[in-house]
Amino acid sequence: MIARTGGGAGMVIKPEPVYAAYRSVVDTLSYKPKVIFLSPQGKVFDQNMARELAKEEHLILLCGHYEGIDQRLIDEIVDEEISIGDYVLTGGELPAMVLIDAISRNIKGVLNEESVEEESFSDGYLEYPQYTRPEEFLGRRVPEVLLSGHHANIQKWRREQALENTKRKRPDLLRKINLE
Ligand SMILES: C[S@@+](CC[C@H](N)C(=O)[O-])C[C@H]1O[C@@H](n2cnc3c(N)ncnc32)[C@H](O)[C@@H]1O
Repeated sequence: MIARTGGGAGMVIKPEPVYAAYRSVVDTLSYKPKVIFLSPQGKVFDQNMARELAKEEHLILLCGHYEGIDQRLIDEIVDEEISIGDYVLTGGELPAMVLIDAISRNIKGVLNEESVEEESFSDGYLEYPQYTRPEEFLGRRVPEVLLSGHHANIQKWRREQALENTKRKRPDLLRKINLE
């Protein structure tokens, strides 16, 4: 690590050791895997990106710390910069873990496929509310339709609730769906 060339507060990670670590992985492969730099300046991560990245055979996640990493290393090896939101964290480790979790649950066989298909963002909407036993809790009952065993009505209720939920909590998602 070195103090910033050109002055300014904070340390910058020097390129050589990171490049050596990168080469030690890439040299064992017959192709260049996609390299993602976790950065608050990147494209904000979402479910579509998680689904697309799940198709990659390998991913290298590069985490910064302090002020960041020497730009020449980024220019040399990075394919994509990804942010997990518009705020600044101390290091890229937590963002990398967020990506690993969100991406791996989209890899076939990691989860039961139904649970991935019906989740929030899978079709642009938020998911419908979830209930389990008991049928009544503190005077609040599980909606009757869910106890009816009538699959078509349950599906209809879920679609309506997903729409309601999205309208109430994330109207921006509906605007996005309407623009597509
Ligand atoms: C303190 S931050 C550096 C911020 C950088 N100087 C800037 O202003 O853009 C240190 C490292 O944390 C990681 N990081 C911080 N916030 C992040 C975010 N929102 N998404 C992804 N990575 C983030 C990045 O790897 C970054 O290099």
